[in-house]
Amino acid sequence: MSNNVQGAGVRPAQWSSRFAFIMAAVGSAVGLGNIWKFPYITGENGGGAFVLVYLACIAVIGLPLMMAEVMLGRRGGQSPIGTMAQVAADEGRSRSWVGIGFMATLASFLILTFYSVIAGWTMPYILSAASGEFGGIAAKDSDALFGGLLASPGQLLLWHSVFMGLTVLVSAGGVRHGLERAVTKLMPALFVLLLILVGYGMTSGHFGEAAAFLFRPDFSALTAEAVLVALGHAFFTLSLASGAMMAYGAYLKKEVPIARTSVVVALMDTGVALLAGLAIFPIVFANGLEPGAGPGLIFVTLPVAFGQMPGGSFFATLFFVLLLFAAWTSSISLLESLVSYLNEKGVSRVKAAIGGGLVAWLVGITTVLSLNEWSGFTPLDMFARFEGKTLFDLYDYLTANIMMPLGAFFTALFVGWKMKPAHSAAELGGWHRVWFPVIRYLSPIALLIVFYFNLW
Ligand code: PFF
Repeated sequence: MSNNVQGAGVRPAQWSSRFAFIMAAVGSAVGLGNIWKFPYITGENGGGAFVLVYLACIAVIGLPLMMAEVMLGRRGGQSPIGTMAQVAADEGRSRSWVGIGFMATLASFLILTFYSVIAGWTMPYILSAASGEFGGIAAKDSDALFGGLLASPGQLLLWHSVFMGLTVLVSAGGVRHGLERAVTKLMPALFVLLLILVGYGMTSGHFGEAAAFLFRPDFSALTAEAVLVALGHAFFTLSLASGAMMAYGAYLKKEVPIARTSVVVALMDTGVALLAGLAIFPIVFANGLEPGAGPGLIFVTLPVAFGQMPGGSFFATLFFVLLLFAAWTSSISLLESLVSYLNEKGVSRVKAAIGGGLVAWLVGITTVLSLNEWSGFTPLDMFARFEGKTLFDLYDYLTANIMMPLGAFFTALFVGWKMKPAHSAAELGGWHRVWFPVIRYLSPIALLIVFYFNLW
């Protein structure tokens, strides 16, 4: 398989097989969103009802949108921006639809700026795990360890820099080089390790409580904002409305069935998130920790579990290494929209990756600081919705809860109303009959309802 993505106007090299695409797409989808974000936002939003809404968002909006984005990517065959320009022209529609591509590229870039900081946390955890520091650690000490990391801008900056460097390295070489091999080995290993952690959770005596928390919906705990968070997370976790799936779709061969392949990717992604929840919440309850503790949830809970397990240092090291790799295969796809766009504009891949990575790294420093020195800097306090949100919180909110739902809405409008159904049918085959009414009516209406309740 060639790792050479060519410049303007030339159709890029393609994935070697359907399997390669699945692995790249799963590599993009499965990341911090599943293992770090899903458990903590589930904890913050009261559990079961939130999980149910999240699953509904995946099924009714996320999955059909993934099919739409991969299809658009394959038809356009370029960066998300180039693809939208191309497809809009092919359909005889206004050039303004290219805005979908621009917003997606901006969203993925903004996500990358903080994603790299969080991914960086895995590295000191690998070192602590390997040195046996988690052996028998109590929950309050684990909490203090995590607090110490956040309080140190120097450490955070160091690991943020290393992680961004790793991302640029792969991106500069072409995303498909090395990615295929790495992902096919690492994703299954991560899956097995999560199963081991779930098995451990079963012995904790609190598994039932955790399962009830995750799967017994209590709708009185559900707010309109929680629905928006669940929706935003459905896009975030599936790498939608941020160009990644469109960019990867551009490298997809004609013969590959888009609908079935998307179903596999969405199922794997959802499976990993639910397993992560089942691994983490028994530990939370067994140790009297707070489910709504926020972004530190897995970094505080998992060391406690590993610390009590036979062979814990080994498993803990392996786990954080795998989490690092899962984040890496996602971050590469976060940079891809921008790099492929710049590449089309004549900038070499290497320069585009280094330039894009450098700016994302710089902006990422504001996330580093918002975890410590600037933790009191909450610039949008005048709006009730943004009250108390640091810069990091704002980047997260802006991308997942505003840009992605909007991008998804316009994408659904485009494929549902502006594109000739014969064109989408040619890409989606038999699935088109089900997909089309969903993306034309159900997805946009569901999105409008969520917007409505959040605005009022
Ligand atoms: N899906 C990734 C995760 O769950 O960690 C995050 C992500 C990757 C979002 C790529 C968006 C994207 F384009």
